[in-house]
Order: sequence, then structure tokens, then C-alpha cells
Amino acid sequence: MIIVGGPASNNIDLEIARIMNIPQITLEYKTFPDGESYIRYPVEKVKLSKETVVIVQSLYPPQDKHFLELLLAISTAKDLGAEEVVAVVPYLAYARQDKRFRAGEAISVNVILKSIEFAGADRFITIDIHKEESLKVLSIPYKNLTAMKELAKYLAERNYENPVILAPDRGAISLAKDIANILNTEYDYIIKVRDKITGEVRAEAKTLDIKDKTVIIVDDIISTGGTMVLAARCSLASGAKTVVAVCTHALLVGNALDRLRESGVSDIIATNSVPSPVSKVSVASVVAEYLQSII
Ligand code: R5P
Repeated sequence: MIIVGGPASNNIDLEIARIMNIPQITLEYKTFPDGESYIRYPVEKVKLSKETVVIVQSLYPPQDKHFLELLLAISTAKDLGAEEVVAVVPYLAYARQDKRFRAGEAISVNVILKSIEFAGADRFITIDIHKEESLKVLSIPYKNLTAMKELAKYLAERNYENPVILAPDRGAISLAKDIANILNTEYDYIIKVRDKITGEVRAEAKTLDIKDKTVIIVDDIISTGGTMVLAARCSLASGAKTVVAVCTHALLVGNALDRLRESGVSDIIATNSVPSPVSKVSVASVVAEYLQSII
């Protein structure tokens, strides 16, 4: 098995190779003056022929460029004689466009996944995909790993006082449950409620009393921060003492980090599936452990 670091591996490939004690190579890459992407395998260092080649390439911005580089890397590994190509995509871009919200829209996640398979991937691995069902479009073996155990370990070390876990919406409840089970705390999700008298809409935890607690809000993605800011504000309005924001993929578009801090979030914790100033937890061990299990 050889681990290959793509241009958007965020060094996760190096860590996986170190944990597994197996060879690693880094793809050469550049952008031509007209904007086209180029990748090259350093074949003078290692032969891919008859090997299982594990390509690590996350799809953080610029997503389209990183996606094309991934396709080039998969297809070229096959051309160079790889026996099996495993695509490890820690952050799968386009996963939120998983249905036609309006007639005529592209179901983008299907196109992305089918392209990865079409390029020659024999196996697909990702982490905390927006909806696991999206992977059913693949006809190759796939695995959606989760970073919740690693994030929970990090949270445990911080010894937060009276912690409870909240999902900012029902869709993220399984993430909240995973962390709560490890930390042995209660969990809930946030719902929007309309005041019957004033008609005012506000968000609150469905059943839990979060007064004076450290509320740890867990989501798969923080993009603009809008979802997390709303959840943080509602937690503080319901009496939370401290709010901690946790996610797997910290895209932090524009001034998301400032917005989060201004909303009263005291700590923001994410993984390195996307490089960011809050990427404090590595997903490498989760991937390495899984790769060990399929060797
Ligand atoms: C939505 O269902 C997702 O799980 C995230 O909550 C959402 O995409 C985060 O985006 P933003 O940070 O822009 O609110």
C-alpha cells in the first residue's frame, strides 16, 4: 500500500503513512498560465504497478480545482498500473446539494461521486459526509468515517464544566449523540418555536434545560457560520453559561470566525479535513485505523 498526498491533503497523508509505517509520496502539481491543472506522480521514487494506491485529497476551496486534481490523480494511478485505487476525501464538497431543492437543479453530490468512480476509484472513503445516504449512488465499496470520537477526546481533555451537547438542527443529532455517548452527557437538538401570543420565532433546545451549562454545539460543517451563530445565540438566551462550537469541516467562509466569536462562542474546535485556524483535531488516525482494517 502506498499513500499519495494530493495538493489538498493538508498533510493528512503524511500522518497516515507515519501511523501505518508505509511508503508515502507527494504529487507534483502546478497550474498552467491559462488556469489548467497539472499533476505528476514522482515515478522515479516509487512504482505504482500492482500496488494499492491510497490518494488523500480533500475538497476544500477551491473545490472545483481540488476535485479535478483528484480525478487526474485517480485516473493516472490506474494508467500507471495501480491494482487498486482508494480515494480518501476527508471533506466531500457539494455534499449539501443532495437533492433537487428546485426543479431542474443538479444533484451535485451524485455527479461528484459518480465522477470519482468513473475516473477509476475502486474504493471511496470520506468523513462525516452531510448525509450518508448520498453514498448509495456509488457502486464501488465506500465508507463514511466519523471524527466524533477524536473530537470527543479533545473535548474531554478540556474538562468543560457541566457539559451538554446540542445539534443545531435535527439533521446533526447523530453527531451530538456520538459525542454525548463518549462524554457521558445529555444531548438534544435545537428547534424553532413560535410564541403563540407574540408570533415571535425563537430557537431553543427541544427538551433539555441548558441553564448554567456548557453547551457544546456539534455540526458537520461550519460554512458561513449562520447556523452555528443562531444556535449559540439561542443557547445563551436560554441561560447557557458557555458555548463551544464543534464541527468536522470548518470552511469558515468570509468573516465566519468573527461572527461566531461576536455571537458569544468561546471556543471553536474542528478537524484538519479543511485547513483553518481552529483545525485542532486530526482525522489521520481515524483513516489509518480503517485502512488497517481493510488491508
Ligand atoms: C446544514 O444542514 C449543515 O449541516 C450545516 O448546518 C450548514 O450547512 C452550515 O452552514 P452555515 O455555516 O453557512 O450556516
